[in-house]
Amino acid sequence: MTTLRRSFLSLWALCLAITLIPSHAEVIHEFVTIDYEWPNSTARAQSLANGDYAPKTGVVSGIQVYKGSYHYLSFFGEHDVPYTTIFVTVPRTQAVKGIPSGLNTVVKDANGKSVLRPYPNWAAQKIGDCSALQLPMSMAIDPNTGYLYVIDIGRVGISSPNPANLCPAKLVVYDTVGGGSTILSYEFPDSVVSRTTNYLNDIVIDYVNPEGTGGVKYAYMTDTLTRSLVVYDFAHNKSWAYKDPVSMGTDDDVDITIHGIRYRMDVGINGIAMSPTFNYLYYSSVGSKKLYQVPTWVLRTPGNDFVSNTRLVGSKKSQGGGMVFGHKGLFFGALEYDAVYRWDIEADIKSQRVLEGEVVMKTQVPVAQNWQTMQWTDALSLDNESNLYFTTNRLQKFVTNKMDFDGGEGANFRIFKYNVHDKSYLSPPSPFDGPEVVIG
Ligand SMILES: *[C@@H]1O[C@H](CO)[C@@H](O)[C@H](O)[C@H]1NC(C)=O
Ligand SMILES: *[C@@H]1O[C@H](CO)[C@@H](O)[C@H](O)[C@H]1NC(C)=O
Ligand SMILES: *[C@@H]1O[C@H](CO)[C@@H](O)[C@H](O)[C@H]1NC(C)=O
Repeated sequence: MTTLRRSFLSLWALCLAITLIPSHAEVIHEFVTIDYEWPNSTARAQSLANGDYAPKTGVVSGIQVYKGSYHYLSFFGEHDVPYTTIFVTVPRTQAVKGIPSGLNTVVKDANGKSVLRPYPNWAAQKIGDCSALQLPMSMAIDPNTGYLYVIDIGRVGISSPNPANLCPAKLVVYDTVGGGSTILSYEFPDSVVSRTTNYLNDIVIDYVNPEGTGGVKYAYMTDTLTRSLVVYDFAHNKSWAYKDPVSMGTDDDVDITIHGIRYRMDVGINGIAMSPTFNYLYYSSVGSKKLYQVPTWVLRTPGNDFVSNTRLVGSKKSQGGGMVFGHKGLFFGALEYDAVYRWDIEADIKSQRVLEGEVVMKTQVPVAQNWQTMQWTDALSLDNESNLYFTTNRLQKFVTNKMDFDGGEGANFRIFKYNVHDKSYLSPPSPFDGPEVVIG
């Protein structure tokens, strides 16, 4: 090989490497309407005919991503085959019927179209069967075990004129590595999560110990309609709730303007995020820009003084739904900007020379923005390998019946992937991360 040809080849390899490193958030799945991986075309046609499947009744909302690997031995030695599973929810909020499966993984069909595969199966999605999922809203994946923690509202059509209060709300845990078997199905007592008015919305899990050696001790969930924070204690199989009308309510920022249109979003406590130190839980309402923190010691036992221990951390760039903590920052949607932002908590703690319990949110930096494709960032998830995943779904159009489900405005829901050099709050801190956020 001549030197010229060799250098041409290495230049070409360099160009290839550069183009393969995503310099922006990359769309990995997109949908005009939801569709599924059906057992056969007859099943699809029948569901369309009887209304069990009505493509214009749902949006892709919650997301969690699991990186796993199959381990096997062969004649040639040991093998590890990595895989990625993307879990999404399609909430049954706007109508009782029309969404045949609420909890799903995302796959591509033979034509390369992104479709949903019911998780763990079709039987687990049956409306009216209280051992099945009714309105699975959000999830939390444990990257260390592959356990998926799912909150089920138990009611369907909750934003429609005729909600159906079919079942109690529950917390369901699936072993996604062990074939999707159910590890736990806990029904909340009506006194903690109301059977008739709850809207369980977001969930995070708490190791207590940042090394995660003892496993998951608590789950924290927001209830958007009753404006409360719900706690489940795994060791004692008990739940309780805290309420604070001020920090969990809405304020002067209840109107959200997107592309010149004002949407009144009188929606309370919604997104939550757990600090990687497990010392503080952060939360925000949709109809507010305010970000609050509450120490986890308050939440971990019932009957504490919640209101006097919660603290306003600052005002986000814009209102938003979901949020997620990595080890270095908090990622959240900024709805009025069709953007995702990051609060660099590490920088603010260092420059202010304070503890996490005193830090003021100042350093907010844009992560990604697009006026067409990033309308309404709904949910975000970090994996253990520095990727941020997020869903965008034009929810402001959906809830006002302005969504173009015929494709005139392109895809309506997207799943983005972006290397943000940070990883899930549940992943162990790695030595490459440099100094961890130092929190007392
Ligand atoms: C299609 O799938 C449904 C549901 O699994 C099954 O009951 C039915 O027998 C199948 N029909 C055909 C034609 O394969
Ligand atoms: C992420 O988790 C998967 C499954 O446990 C594992 O195979 C992989 O090595 C992990 N990646 C890193 C960077 O730790
Ligand atoms: C956990 O508590 C629920 C509700 O109080 C109860 O129905 C269930 O049997 C308990 N589970 C275990 C394993 O004790």
